[in-house]
Amino acid sequence: MKDSAALQAELAELRRLINYHNSRYHQLDAPAIPDQDYDRLFQRLLDIEAAHPGLVTPDSPSQRVGSAPLGGFTQVRHALPMQSLDKVFTSDDLRRFEERVIKRLNTASPPEFSCEPKIDGVAVSLLYRDGMLERAATRGDGTTGEDITHNVRTVRALPLRLQGGGYPALLEVRGEIFMTKSGFASMNAEALSKGERTFVNPRNAAAGTLRQLDSRLTAQRPLTMFCYSAGLVENGVLPDTLSAIFDSFVRWGLPVNELRRVVTGVAACEEYCALVQARRNALDYEIDGVVIKINSLALQQELGMNARTPRWAMAFKFPAEEVATVLEDVVFQVGRTGALTPVARLRPVFVGGVTVSNATLHNMDEVRRLGLRIGDRVIVRRAGDVIPKIVQVVPPAFVAETAVADAMENDRQTADTTLIEARDIVAPVQCPVCGSPVVQEEGEVLLRCSGTLVCRAQLIQALLHFASRGAMDIEGLGSKLVEQLVEAGLVKSLADLYQLDVDTLANLERMGLKSAQNLKAGIDKSKDISLARFLFALGIRDVGEATALNLARHFGTLAAVMAADEETLKAVDDVGPVVAGRIATFFAQPLNRQLIEQLLKLGVSPQELAVVPPEKLPLSGQTWVVTGSLAAMDRNQAKAVLQALGAKVAGSVSAKTTCVVAGPGAGSKLATAEELGIKVINEQEFLALLEQLQ
Ligand code: IVH
Repeated sequence: MKDSAALQAELAELRRLINYHNSRYHQLDAPAIPDQDYDRLFQRLLDIEAAHPGLVTPDSPSQRVGSAPLGGFTQVRHALPMQSLDKVFTSDDLRRFEERVIKRLNTASPPEFSCEPKIDGVAVSLLYRDGMLERAATRGDGTTGEDITHNVRTVRALPLRLQGGGYPALLEVRGEIFMTKSGFASMNAEALSKGERTFVNPRNAAAGTLRQLDSRLTAQRPLTMFCYSAGLVENGVLPDTLSAIFDSFVRWGLPVNELRRVVTGVAACEEYCALVQARRNALDYEIDGVVIKINSLALQQELGMNARTPRWAMAFKFPAEEVATVLEDVVFQVGRTGALTPVARLRPVFVGGVTVSNATLHNMDEVRRLGLRIGDRVIVRRAGDVIPKIVQVVPPAFVAETAVADAMENDRQTADTTLIEARDIVAPVQCPVCGSPVVQEEGEVLLRCSGTLVCRAQLIQALLHFASRGAMDIEGLGSKLVEQLVEAGLVKSLADLYQLDVDTLANLERMGLKSAQNLKAGIDKSKDISLARFLFALGIRDVGEATALNLARHFGTLAAVMAADEETLKAVDDVGPVVAGRIATFFAQPLNRQLIEQLLKLGVSPQELAVVPPEKLPLSGQTWVVTGSLAAMDRNQAKAVLQALGAKVAGSVSAKTTCVVAGPGAGSKLATAEELGIKVINEQEFLALLEQLQ
């Protein structure tokens, strides 16, 4: 137990930090620590103050909801304060929320809740007078915000005049303005290409955009809005439930979230939260949880308010997708084509629902763009099944604070605040695996190991690719085994695989006679292979499954592909000048020709396909849709494979759709397919089908 002086000192420090980060976030649009860390600082303040009410000061950040408005905009006083929400993270917390509500209302029956996603954007208030948009303001500190009417007028999703009739003469509508993920991505890509400032995430981008003094700039940015409540109402009445108010909003042309639902009881709320969480990544906007509100306005009134938050609503928060950790080291991994990729070794951290300890840094340009050094505290983002990445370095002045915040999170992870000596990330001049010189091709960002034939890393990757499912599909030839074979010098080229005998294999670590026999059988079986798979297995740069299939279709025989010049290659679907060049160069290399010859001599026999006219392709005349994430390939690859098989690939589901491939995270497209009774298959079924067709 801390003594009073120590507590007061901690409170003073917490308040100083919170005020500081409030201003970074709200006034400068440049947060220095992740939201989760800020929330923890704030929660700690609330906890201490709740236990020691005598220590609450009038200027404590707990006494306000946000931060002071930025000078430069006209201030707007909200007629009714804009509150914030209490947060819960678990089903148990949700149950307790319902218990409190039931107790206060003194009823036996579970209440009706209006649920909707919690949008990660900027809270705003819109004032409509006689149906005309008169004024728009930010939340500011909850009492006073800033006038952003000029900017909000540019948001096309919002009516400048309400449609229909029946609305109150004075109506304040509240909601969240946000940027779509796709809009954010293209805006950032454009900024990057022009060398302009990019934003860290859609929320900061939306906040920054709404603070533009020049609304012509705002008009070019992809902002939109969902309305979630009514504030001031004069000369008119609104319906007596939130869900009915939303229906009125829709009639008046105000955008409301399409996932809103009315449910009864907390168990149904939990189901709803699970449903929204499952769809989180498929949505084109960022959400960080679900907001659960009592649907009846009369009951809301009866429940009333706590100090800062209503008792009739709760935010159920999803796991954070951005958290801070320490960059402990950067290693350079050598890929199949010799490309050196810097990989961040991170102090393990729980983010987006899993523990992450590595993140790709893509290339040295990315390292420079981030201004990254080893020992830095960094913000790591992992959303959905997307690979984790570093989005930002925490400026050195704030490192202590994020570490304090980590230290407070004592349930899920023990915060390690050991400092690591800062050092620059230096690109190697020699391959870390084989010591060959590292080269950088003209006009390329990528660094490459020049030791194609001697580099064990390249050989290991090439073998793994060769043996992989879409290629020669050699069962049982995993990475541990390939590493052993290469390290022991038993395999020095792809062709050596076919010379391995059962005895040699059986002598390897963790290999019995049975598994050696199975592996040998697998290797032998792979000799009968389609031309497309064989071409893909060779690992020619930029020749993926779809291109390999197109090449096989176009030329029909391996000899014809090998003999083709660049011009002829360019006539193949999907093959541009760069890829044509790569293919021609690959087959011109004597060592590659020698390898192919050896493979053929050892019995590998790529089946020659008859050249198929487009209308005879197996999926010709069909329309397919791919949605959600797939593990074995990305959506573009799936699309290319389908097209190579003759299918049309559409972006949305309609009655004309033949089949939908749905991976995890599939959202509205899957729902539409189910509604229309269209065939839906999962990834496994899809891969099985491809295997059959190729
Ligand atoms: S209702 C008193 N609904 O979350 C309740 N808020 O901490 C008012 N937010 O400032 C808020 N999506 O910016 C509500 N569907 C939603 C929301 C939502 C995002 C934000 C809002 C508010 C904060 C609450």
